[in-house]
Amino acid sequence: MDIGIDKIGFYTPKNYIDIVDLAKARNQDPDKFTIGIGQEKQAVPMPYEDAVTMAAEAASQVLDDTNNSDIGLLIVGTESSVDESKASALFLTDLLELPADVRAFEIKEACYGATAGLQTARDYIAANPDKKALVIASDIARYGLNTPGEVTQGAGAVAMLLSADPRILKLENKSTFMSRNVGDFWRPTFSKTAFARGKYSNQIYIEFFSTLWEQFQEKYDVTAADFKAMLFHIPYTKMGSKAMKILEGNIDEDKLSELKASYQESIKFGKVVGNLYTGSLYLSLLSYLLNANIDSNEEILLFSYGSGSMGELFSGKIQPGFKDAIDIKTIENILQNRNKINISEYEGIFGQGLENGQKTDVKAITSTYYLSEIKENERIYQSHN
Ligand code: CAA
Repeated sequence: MDIGIDKIGFYTPKNYIDIVDLAKARNQDPDKFTIGIGQEKQAVPMPYEDAVTMAAEAASQVLDDTNNSDIGLLIVGTESSVDESKASALFLTDLLELPADVRAFEIKEACYGATAGLQTARDYIAANPDKKALVIASDIARYGLNTPGEVTQGAGAVAMLLSADPRILKLENKSTFMSRNVGDFWRPTFSKTAFARGKYSNQIYIEFFSTLWEQFQEKYDVTAADFKAMLFHIPYTKMGSKAMKILEGNIDEDKLSELKASYQESIKFGKVVGNLYTGSLYLSLLSYLLNANIDSNEEILLFSYGSGSMGELFSGKIQPGFKDAIDIKTIENILQNRNKINISEYEGIFGQGLENGQKTDVKAITSTYYLSEIKENERIYQSHN
């Protein structure tokens, strides 16, 4: 049975900062941020937006009256959890009006969480071919003002509906994965911002990709020639280029040029949004699907990396007619109708947050789903629907 991604949706907050403005405000050469890091814009979430509201926005693009009742599994991959106990998926069952007989939970393993969700959903569909699974990656990547990681922040969500006979990406049953206890990046429960050993994290990312690629070739007797593209988890767009350097001198030069060209198509969205943590790899997929010249049934590789660390390299086949299953107009609207804010506005938003007993000013809201208040320490969500 063919199993994979049948629909895909995406959301990023309306406000963004220009990376050149950020470089100037931090007394950095703008070329370092635009060329050395490879970013152009960075999404800035409002205090009424979080992993739950962004997940709902992305998921609303893949749900309709015909498929809601088929969903038996809802998994949210996030490292921007809003509660230490209750899963963000439970708030979503309500906001998305999902049926009661749905298994809904959250998975955490840094930026790998959604891939764990995807593989779990794949197994679920294999056992329940008539059902569908909703996997959502939703995160706010936040390091703090004036930190080296600040240029690699971002926010947004990618929602994927998995089913039998998928219309977008058939997951091949080919995967290599590994885990190792590494201190490259972490966010303790007391902190709203992440800590990273930046250069060390780059090194571990590349080590994981290199090891898994070696294993993948050996396990499935394939070479780079078998793939039209390699898509990466993109904390910043230079990261995938750094990882691809391990291919230099080891594969045919024309193939390398083709893979590098495909990579450029896959980072177009990440460049203007920033890091989505769990969603970044799947934003690369979406960017590739909507920007590249795709062959019918071409096979692609996807590299998922979550600090701490867990990595997985897997492959999928892009399905003919995949564009019909994506709400391209809505996604283009989200990316094109954004609002540039200056660095002092961004710094102001960065420090804000709803406190217990406070309500959001509804007049200021630009999203459909929002955190409306915190009442008796409980987060209350609402939608304009
Ligand atoms: N013109 C062009 N390029 C320039 C330049 C200039 N004027 N000045 C510097 N550069 C280049 C540097 O040569 C360097 O290039 P290489 O990496 O190819 O050597 C690049 O710009 C970055 O410069 P630095 O290494 O000096 O940058 P930095 O020390 O300030 O930090 C960072 C960069 C480590 C990525 C930092 O932003 C960070 O810590 N980010 C968060 C951690 C992270 O994203 N890690 C990625 C792997 S872990 C992961 O993937 C999981 C996840 O999502 C977090």
